[in-house]
Amino acid sequence: MKLTKRVKQLMSLMTLEEKVGQLHQVPPFFFSDELVNEVAGPLRKYKISPTQLFHVGSILGTAGPEEMKHLQSMYLQRSRLKIPLLFMADIIHGYKTIFPIPLAIAATMDPKRSETAARIAAKEATTSGIAVTFSPMADLARDARWGRVMESSGEDPFVNYHMTYAAVKGYQGSSLKDPSTLAACGKHVVAYGAGIAGKDYTQAELSKHSLYQYYLEGYRACVDAEARLLMSSFNVVEGIPSTVSSFVLKTLIRNHLGFKGVIISDYDSLNEAQFHRVTSSGEETALKGIEATLDIEMSSAIYQNHLIPLIEQGKVSVKLLNDAVGRVLMLKEELGLLDDPYRGLNPALEATLPLSENHYKAAYDVAKASPILLKNEQALPLLPEEEIVFVGSLLDEQNLLGAWAWHGEVERTSSLAMVLRQRYSFPLLMTDSLEETDLKTIQKAKKVVVFVGERSKEFGEARSKMSPTLSDEHQRLLQTILSINPNVITVVMAGRPLVLSPTVVASQAILYSFYLGSAMADVLVDTLFGGINPSGTLPMTLASDVGQLPIHTLSLPTGRPFEGKTYTYTSHYIDGGNTPLFPMGFGLSYTFFSIQKAHKLHENEDQIDLDVTVQNTGHVYGEHPIFVYLKTPIVGVALPEYQLIAFNRMGLEPGMRQTLTLTIDKKHVSYYDTSFKRHRFDGPFHVKIVLMNEQYEVTL
Ligand code: BGC
Repeated sequence: MKLTKRVKQLMSLMTLEEKVGQLHQVPPFFFSDELVNEVAGPLRKYKISPTQLFHVGSILGTAGPEEMKHLQSMYLQRSRLKIPLLFMADIIHGYKTIFPIPLAIAATMDPKRSETAARIAAKEATTSGIAVTFSPMADLARDARWGRVMESSGEDPFVNYHMTYAAVKGYQGSSLKDPSTLAACGKHVVAYGAGIAGKDYTQAELSKHSLYQYYLEGYRACVDAEARLLMSSFNVVEGIPSTVSSFVLKTLIRNHLGFKGVIISDYDSLNEAQFHRVTSSGEETALKGIEATLDIEMSSAIYQNHLIPLIEQGKVSVKLLNDAVGRVLMLKEELGLLDDPYRGLNPALEATLPLSENHYKAAYDVAKASPILLKNEQALPLLPEEEIVFVGSLLDEQNLLGAWAWHGEVERTSSLAMVLRQRYSFPLLMTDSLEETDLKTIQKAKKVVVFVGERSKEFGEARSKMSPTLSDEHQRLLQTILSINPNVITVVMAGRPLVLSPTVVASQAILYSFYLGSAMADVLVDTLFGGINPSGTLPMTLASDVGQLPIHTLSLPTGRPFEGKTYTYTSHYIDGGNTPLFPMGFGLSYTFFSIQKAHKLHENEDQIDLDVTVQNTGHVYGEHPIFVYLKTPIVGVALPEYQLIAFNRMGLEPGMRQTLTLTIDKKHVSYYDTSFKRHRFDGPFHVKIVLMNEQYEVTL
């Protein structure tokens, strides 16, 4: 990386200790008053002296503007060269205005919404002095057991690319000199979503071809959108923990994808190389980390304790250290921190801008395109004059923010019950265990709307589930209701694609919503009553049985496809079906659409413009994503039969017809061969256009 004059000059003044300090990131509590004067707690655990503490380069996660201001000023007073601390935090789907969880944003299939959420998150978070966000999570997610699927954009690499790219652009704006922008840190390189059996912190078992073909796309999006940082993953890939893997960090990330920015470890993950039994000492770990081009170590102190002795023994070159320090200082310079250590910090604005009316409206607008209508036997939308009863303890839940909403304010979030009470006077039975009187109310009702699913604490990091299904309590609740009133509408609230029980499937309508953040209650009530026409589609396939997990739409063709139970030796289960309950991309609407024609409008070396004429054939305004799948040519390597190559959203008034132009970017119409070289497919391209239940095939 080319260094500016100022960074070069700074580096010429720095001692080795000061340089190594720039590569260390600690949580704010390391700086608590007792610890800076006396070696105790984490300082003792990691064997860092107060002098070393005042060399550290960055802080992760702060509580707010006052804490940031206090830490920065205390640090600058005691630091010799006065290089400001860089504040990084997990701003995953909003600061205080909480946007839908990333999986819910992916359900909108609208990268612009991903960008808006990130832009507003950056505007709010920077007022508290944060300059880097550990987001977006670009990991491809295929296993519903994994709690972190909520942070992903789901199972499809093409959707993953576009949602991730847009988020980076949203955080970073047009220039990092603008103090309302955040530098983005894409994570976790690589294949953190491929952990076996849906668990965190474990090994990723996947073929190298899958790694290149599917799992790299999200990280490629980060590099293409110029994210300034990437975070290494906790998992082992190809036999080595990513954090110390030269294959992952150098070969894949820096050489293959061309990443030039800062690579940071995950929390303690450098130290953990020893727990993986891959390195046998701190010294060896530090050596492997710096050789792999890991720049910043988060939390543990392997670099602080071992890099200098390694340099003194000639095992690590000063150049390797300088390369890493140069990248960190260039980030500080680019963010404008060297001129203003309090970049963006504005306690007055921090008190008013977050959750302002405009930001709430923006969160509502992102969220309204997310809920997914899975089934509707003319039960929805609800009419205010009908006799309706709403049931379930989730009605009373105020934490609709979802996991990873550290700064979100639950007490300022409306529950569904609050919104329903404000607008209507329907009975609300806010319980999962019904009493005799509740049963009578349910029996009499024309429609029963039941809320089931997960709560915020059931998904996120370290929230893997063996059985991602509805709880027994929720299944019983549904069964009891269905046995006395068949007119059931089930609303599933979740952080992952749950495996739905036959009771849910027996409902007259199913509305599936991932957690939507600050505006969730308003959006769900508006959707149920038709103010919003549902337009989300599944970013992950819903399995019909836990035994199918992990299931996704990109499995490879088999030589023995299932052809019915009469022939044994095919790819199938003897105790259940192969097909999912609903595939990725599925979602209905209160209206209907048709595709009337499609043709190639124009083509050049880089793109094809495809004109598609669509019509709203129903009676209400409707929006919906439209997908273009390529029938994959045969190229000598096993690939899924279809791959997504374009998508867009459209909106049409009832009866209206419109011609949309969908652009196919040829660089995505590609595949990796068995030597991991990327090629574009040659035309002609046979494509399938999908709009809700409609399909249209055309050759381009
Ligand atoms: C997570 C990261 C996160 C980091 C800092 C880790 O446990 O895996 O995604 O950014 O903590 O909070």
